[in-house]
Amino acid sequence: MSRRFIRRSLLYVPGSSGKMLSKSVDLNADSIIADLEDAVSMTEKDAARETISEFIPRIQAAGKEAVVRVNAMNTFFGVKDLIAVAEMKPNAVIVPKADVLSVKMADNILSGLEEHLELSKGSIHIIPLLETAAGIMDAVNIVGASPRINGVQLGAEDLTKELGIKRTAAGDEIAFARQRLVYAACAYNVDCFDTPFTGIKDMEGLGEDACSAAAMGFTGKTCIHPAHIDAINRVFSVSGEEINHARRLVEAFEIAVSRGKGACMFEGKMIDAPIAERARKLLSKAAE
Ligand code: COA
Ligand code: MG
Repeated sequence: MSRRFIRRSLLYVPGSSGKMLSKSVDLNADSIIADLEDAVSMTEKDAARETISEFIPRIQAAGKEAVVRVNAMNTFFGVKDLIAVAEMKPNAVIVPKADVLSVKMADNILSGLEEHLELSKGSIHIIPLLETAAGIMDAVNIVGASPRINGVQLGAEDLTKELGIKRTAAGDEIAFARQRLVYAACAYNVDCFDTPFTGIKDMEGLGEDACSAAAMGFTGKTCIHPAHIDAINRVFSVSGEEINHARRLVEAFEIAVSRGKGACMFEGKMIDAPIAERARKLLSKAAE
């Protein structure tokens, strides 16, 4: 059974940059995503695979999840990446421009490679990156396409490029896509990661963006710069105040149940079984 990681912040690092990969080992992001796709130019693709192979074990030794974003499955580089990357035993691979076919293809190739390399079956997880209109509309089938999937990511830049619409800091234009991802992730009980915020120096914008993603049900957020990690970790952590509130609520509900009631008043509001269950879920998340 592979280890389950708490994934609040996931930092993208260009796979061609030994300097940034080296720096990422000591950063406090929960997951490091070594990128072989868009952050790496065509002429650097082969060298980048070599570069990341050195860092996967270092990232894992530092207690973080090591993820690799490979190129799309329908490209020459995508298949080469998967073959090379499986030997590095990352915790997960991100499949970009994901659809059902590309996820099943990655799943099949990984199964063959795991057998060949004598790795336990299913040990390399898949995180589909949904960033096309078709992908958003088919979200639930994509997330259900492989038992290796333990998270799904939204990619807003490619999506808004395809839709021909402006990308804004407020993010109203991606609200529908965000919701579809959250519902699909929830249906399969997997993590749900928001798109990166590209305003590197706009910390206020980042905070608002992360808070609205968290309020919608995302469990974590990807980022592209180390300066964003702490704010993201804060937003996606359960606060002491939330824990105390949940504890009081569960206690009040249990007293009501012991008195034969199914609902009661708690701090001015009605609480019942689903509300108490939500509080218990929050407490178990906080205990992870
Ligand atoms: N991972 C690790 N380290 C990073 C980093 C990242 N994603 N982004 C920046 N850094 C490092 C820099 O190397 C620099 O280190 P130093 O102080 O030791 O020299 C420090 O953090 C400050 O960086 P800064 O000068 O503010 O930014 P930059 O101009 O070096 O880099 C980007 C800006 C956008 C090029 C860079 O953040 C980046 O490449 N991000 C990832 C892009 C990516 O992967 N995109 C595809 C996925 S959406
Ligand atoms: Mg993309």
